Formats: sequence, structure tokens, C-alpha cells
Amino acid sequence: MVKNIAVIRGDGIGPEIVEQAIKVLDRVAELYGHTFNYTDVDMGGCAIDKYGAPLPEDELQKCLDSDSVLLGAVGGNKWNDVPGHLRPEKGLLRLRAGMGVYSNNRPAKIWRQLSDASPLKKEIVEKGIDFIIVRELIGGIYFGEHKTEGDTAVDVLRYSEAEIERIGRIGFETAQKRNKKLCSVEKSNVLDSSRLWKKVMHRLAAEYPDVELSDMLVDNCAMQIVKDPAQFDVIVTENMFGDILSDEASMITGSIGMIPSSSLGASSCGLYEPIHGSAPDIAGKDIANPIGTILSAAMMLRFSFDMPNEADAIEKAVSDYLDAGYRTADIMGEGMTLVGCKQCGKLIIDNLKKK
Ligand code: IPM
Ligand code: MG
Repeated sequence: MVKNIAVIRGDGIGPEIVEQAIKVLDRVAELYGHTFNYTDVDMGGCAIDKYGAPLPEDELQKCLDSDSVLLGAVGGNKWNDVPGHLRPEKGLLRLRAGMGVYSNNRPAKIWRQLSDASPLKKEIVEKGIDFIIVRELIGGIYFGEHKTEGDTAVDVLRYSEAEIERIGRIGFETAQKRNKKLCSVEKSNVLDSSRLWKKVMHRLAAEYPDVELSDMLVDNCAMQIVKDPAQFDVIVTENMFGDILSDEASMITGSIGMIPSSSLGASSCGLYEPIHGSAPDIAGKDIANPIGTILSAAMMLRFSFDMPNEADAIEKAVSDYLDAGYRTADIMGEGMTLVGCKQCGKLIIDNLKKK
């Protein structure tokens, strides 16, 4: 198959982690006889420097014209003082909204090789950590009105029933493919938007009788994720709660550097990115963990290109790499072999085999 991939290297560690993911994709193409064409897209701080905007129209168009988008990370201290509407992160939000990718899937799964890297107690980790956060990605407070007037700032949190329903369906469908448990997370004891959220989820539940729906307040959920993560199968939640809970969930699996994500909307053109940020403090030092991005590329193959064997092959190569005892600094443990970003990529590529 021939696929056109828009590649956003971005800022900070973005370019170095994306480089490794592309090398992995190239090796997959070689093994399976595919052609992946890459189009570079400027987004984030580098686009601000070059064009004065975090995602110019032409750059967004390149993404819309592609079969899918692979993204490293954007942002950095250098652009901290630019006005809110010009921040690097605005480019990312514009991209997500422009692509219409309302459904963000963030797995929290512990690799058996990394159980020691979890900050949780052994007996909690041993019960298993394997759940998915389905995060609404293009609504809520991120996309409401933002304004500052004098000494007062306002951010509007708004959801319509239709927006809740479409992400709710993804939550139920995701649960149907797994252990059929869906936990809807909100703050219905305080927020109107959460009461609407809860109402819509319960209405939908009637259409998915095989899925067991539960409700949880977001503050309690933050606690339960560290107390008893084994209770979760699929969590569905709004944009900002999903942002916060997914960072927490990633940490209990060992490192945020390991976690990929997929974002999809109505079409098969998806956005694939690790959930971590641009980590400017370690940029250019060849110490970043590229696995979150490499696994995001695997998700692209699985969810957008219908290449499950190729995706499995990448995941197996990562697992074999961990089995062999190699670790980047973020997950380094006793008796393991410390490697840098480039070497991590190379070792994973060496492990890649056609299934
Ligand atoms: C994420 C990030 C982004 C978000 C930032 C960079 C805008 O934290 O993907 O989780 O808040 O969505
Ligand atoms: Mg985040």
C-alpha cells in the first residue's frame, strides 16, 4: 500500500523522537512492501519563528490532504511570553479541531518488563494496570471563549448533547471490544456540563446493554487511579479531565515517555502523537525515550491504515527490546543497559521481523 503521512517534528525533543519513529516506519515498509511518503509540516514554536503563527493555513492543509499525521511534540520556554492565541499549543489545538479528531484514545498499560518502574506499591501493580482513557478532544474549556479583562480572566466550558453523544459512543464501542466496563468521569456535583454529560451517557447505555456503565467524580477518579487501577477498563471523559487523568495514568505505568495516543474523527485520517510534551530541558541530548512516538506510529498502522500485522510487529519489537534489558534514562532500572534515543530506535528496528 502507498500511504502519505504528514510529519510534524515540532519543538524540543520532537524532531529526535520522530526521526526514530520514521526509521521504524521505513523498516516496516521495507519488510511488508509498502510505500510511506512523508510530507513535513511546521507547527508549534518552530512555525512561530518561521511564519509568525503556530499553524499557518497551508501547513494545516498538508495535514488534511494526508492519510494520517504523525506528531512529535510542540512548545517550549522560548515561546512562553507570546500572546495566548499565538502559543505553540494553539497550533496543536487548531490541528485537532481542523482535523475534527474528537476522540482521543490514551492507553494506560503497564509493560510487564517495567513493573519496577511504577511508583505504585508492588501489590497494586500486580493486580494489573490495563485501561484506556477515551478523552473528548475538540470541545469543552479548551475551545470555549478565553478572555482577560483587567484583573479578571474567563474561560468558558461548554458541551452540547451531540458532542457528548459522539464521544460517548466511542467510549461504549471501545468497552465492547474489551472487558465491557465503561466508567464515565465527570464533576456532576458542581458543573452543569457534567450533569448533561452524565445524562447523555445514561441515555446511551440503553443502546449498549452488554456494557456495564458506572459514574465517577473526577476527583475520586484521580484517587482511584493510584489506589486501585485494576478496577478500570475504559474511562470516558471530557477534554480537560482527560488531559489531567491521562498524565496521572501514564505515570503509574512507569513513564509518560512510553505512552502513545491516537485521535480520530469521522474519517480514517488520524492524528498520532505521544502523550508527553516537548521536554525542552533534555532536547538535543539524545536521551529522550522515542517509544511513545514509535508506538503512536504503530497505532497509525493499526487504526488508520488497517495494517494490524505491521502494528503487532512494532509492538513485539518494542517488547523484545525491553526484554533484552535496554532502557532510556526515564525508565532506567538496576542491572539494565542505559541507551540513548538513537540507539533505542536502532535496537527496535533490529528486532523488527515480518509476522
Ligand atoms: C496533551 C497536551 C496538550 C493538551 C497541550 C500541549 C495543549 O498536554 O496532549 O495532553 O493539553 O491537550
Ligand atoms: Mg496533557
